Amino acid sequence: MAEFDVIIIGAGPGGYVCAIRAAQLGLKVACVEGRGTLGGTCLNVGCIPSKALLNATHQLHEVHENFEKMGLMGANPTVDWAKMLAYKDDVINGNTKGIEFLFKKNKVTWLKGWATIPAAGQVKVGEDVHTAKNIVIATGSEPSTLPGVTVDEQTIVTSTGALALSAVPKSMVVIGAGVIGLEMGSVYARLGTQVTVVEYLDAITPGMDAEVAKAFQKILTKQGIKFVLGAAVQGAEAGKTGAKVSYKLRKDDSAHEIEADVVLVATGRKPYVNGLGLEALGVEMLPRGQIKTDGHFSTNIKGLYAIGDAITGPMLAHKAEDEGMALAEIMAGKHGHVNYNVIPGVVYTTPEVASVGATEEQLKEQGHAYKVGKFSFMGNARAKAVFQAEGFVKILADKDTDRILGAHIIGPSAGDLIHEVCVAMEFGASAQDLALTCHAHPTYSEAVREAALACGDGAIHA
Ligand code: NAI
Repeated sequence: MAEFDVIIIGAGPGGYVCAIRAAQLGLKVACVEGRGTLGGTCLNVGCIPSKALLNATHQLHEVHENFEKMGLMGANPTVDWAKMLAYKDDVINGNTKGIEFLFKKNKVTWLKGWATIPAAGQVKVGEDVHTAKNIVIATGSEPSTLPGVTVDEQTIVTSTGALALSAVPKSMVVIGAGVIGLEMGSVYARLGTQVTVVEYLDAITPGMDAEVAKAFQKILTKQGIKFVLGAAVQGAEAGKTGAKVSYKLRKDDSAHEIEADVVLVATGRKPYVNGLGLEALGVEMLPRGQIKTDGHFSTNIKGLYAIGDAITGPMLAHKAEDEGMALAEIMAGKHGHVNYNVIPGVVYTTPEVASVGATEEQLKEQGHAYKVGKFSFMGNARAKAVFQAEGFVKILADKDTDRILGAHIIGPSAGDLIHEVCVAMEFGASAQDLALTCHAHPTYSEAVREAALACGDGAIHA
């Protein structure tokens, strides 16, 4: 008899959600985590701490930009960086302790330490070998840096170091205009740092609907962030007081250098699967370092599964959570399923940017006949009242059937607004279904309804 029904390796959003759901479904569950706290990258050095710093610096920006306009005079807060970092740490602690509580409540055993898999059905933590009917690899990902760039997490940092700099730098070069680069770039730009983002491609946020990406870049530029696009970074070197980044412009191959107090490397992440013993076990891997799985998260070894950033698909906490939940159900003999067509993506800048489903570029490429309904937040009374009327909602629907194919929002609370479209898409709704749903006034959500109306006979407030 195996000691556990399931041992999950890694307590990030994929692993801990899988553990809780499996326990709720009656399985005897253990979760191995070597970090001193639960929650993985997301809670400890990713999504959650960055949102704390984004919140603090957003408030600061509001005070400077908008308070006097509302008759709130004389506010001029100064930044106590150590205190801001302590606030961020408190937020982390509250959340990681929360997962610890949920583990206890659901009777999930936390095996503290780093795991290896010496043989199928076995997990070794320290000197102890545990047995399980099923093993789940949910070990997540780590930053992938560039050749010629040595990260020291002081001067040349990844997102981890960027969340704990010793002081607010005067200048920062961000390599990569992806989600991490723009979120952390925003944090520091709002604190007064001169931020320059150097990006290989000719547009920011690869994969995002091009119209939205263009509007996003314009807004960020207005906020003081500089962009060097079409620039391939060749290397970065730390000196006594800062670092130097060298890059080549792709259009003419010309070589350039730029100096800054701090360099943030945000050029993507790679699966974190080293040291588990996968090679000795004979686990099949994909060329880009992910674990190969079938449609049910199973590897080529019986009883060994993998989810989240360690396998293919978008590296998003909520994608990992959904996979964790689906896999728990599969292991409990039910029918777990993830709809990969409806996975939202959110950038937590101000304004937020959110998307779900197909972009206009993807539909063009597929030769799919579509229509576009667009509505600017300039026509939304609530957004105007809070100085957040920049941006728009764009809904893409099938030209003939009106079925919603995708939605892209740049504007206030976009990350929350997107979910009404997600639910609509899960139900196979048409744009008209959204348009005919009564939306409370005055809310930002009305802009979503107006965009849906614009797919038909037209928006009212446009
Ligand atoms: P990313 O893949 O989103 O962006 C990396 C950028 O770096 C790309 O635009 C790429 O073209 C550029 N790049 C690569 N090599 C370069 C070079 N030599 N010179 C100049 N530019 C270069 O990666 P990022 O931002 O590091 O994020 C990693 C993962 O974490 C992503 O999958 C992201 O979705 C996820 N994440 C999600 C968040 C969210 O959902 N809000 C927040 C933070 C991260």
